Amino acid sequence: MGLLDGKVALVAGIANKRSIAWGIARAFDREGAELILPYQIPRFKENLAKLLPELARPPLTVQLDVTDDESLASLQKAVAERYDAVHVLVHSVAHAKPEDMSARFLETSREGYQFAQDVSAYSLTALTRALYSQLKAAGRASVITMTHQGSVRVMPGYNVMGVAKAALEATVRYLAFDLGREGIRVNAISAGPIKTLAGSGVKGISTALHATLERAPIPENITTEDIGNAAVFLASSWSERITGTVLYVDSGSHIVG
Ligand SMILES: NC(=O)c1ccc[n+]([C@@H]2O[C@H](COP(=O)([O-])OP(=O)(O)OC[C@H]3O[C@@H](n4cnc5c(N)ncnc54)[C@H](O)[C@@H]3O)[C@@H](O)[C@H]2O)c1
Repeated sequence: MGLLDGKVALVAGIANKRSIAWGIARAFDREGAELILPYQIPRFKENLAKLLPELARPPLTVQLDVTDDESLASLQKAVAERYDAVHVLVHSVAHAKPEDMSARFLETSREGYQFAQDVSAYSLTALTRALYSQLKAAGRASVITMTHQGSVRVMPGYNVMGVAKAALEATVRYLAFDLGREGIRVNAISAGPIKTLAGSGVKGISTALHATLERAPIPENITTEDIGNAAVFLASSWSERITGTVLYVDSGSHIVG
């Protein structure tokens, strides 16, 4: 018996085997969920194809660019053709222009700011709306996004992404309030540093990894498996009355001043 037996889960954000979304997909698969796995670009589709044999059940795969309304509509159509209900939606998507992650924060361009917000924060609302009918039809559904403590305190090098994560966490609260009466919960996981594709784009990632070992209550860096297990909890009925919150999976780093 798995914690997610009989549930359908869409997990967006797999670029390769190091992606947090892949850790979540594997944990969901282990717990019995049927998966829908979008990929952004052909290269990530190839990466995903190599990973699929590790899953117990073959997923539905579909192309998705969260900044493109036509792409969101195609996803909506592909999902609706196959499923009446989707019980879990995972949004593990973010991007900012490299120059905005390396220059002084003062130099953030209007375009770079809007880009980071669009891909990394607004996309949670857009994706949830695309899946709204299926989430509502599930009776009880769970939406989960990925954030980082750079939203609430300054992490050198996180810059415009920290501002996008602050908007993302506010989005979690407003969506949770808006959708709660329809049985849809919305939460975020705030993860400690992991060297993924996106993580490696953050200039201070090595310092952050080292800081966990030096200063965190649990002096160990987290893994995508840790996040997968936390996501199983938020996706399952064990968290049925939890919504609008941020769950820190960071070895306790966020409590240390
Ligand atoms: N790695 C870390 O240290 C860390 C820590 C905390 C939070 N996070 C967050 O976790 C999430 C996943 O990142 P990751 O570390 O697994 O890196 P990753 O690079 O493996 O995943 C990022 C994903 O975002 C997707 N993406 C970007 N733009 C997109 C678009 N326009 N349309 C569709 N998909 C798009 C990419 O395809 C990729 O799959 C992000 O929100 C990231 O900010 C990461």
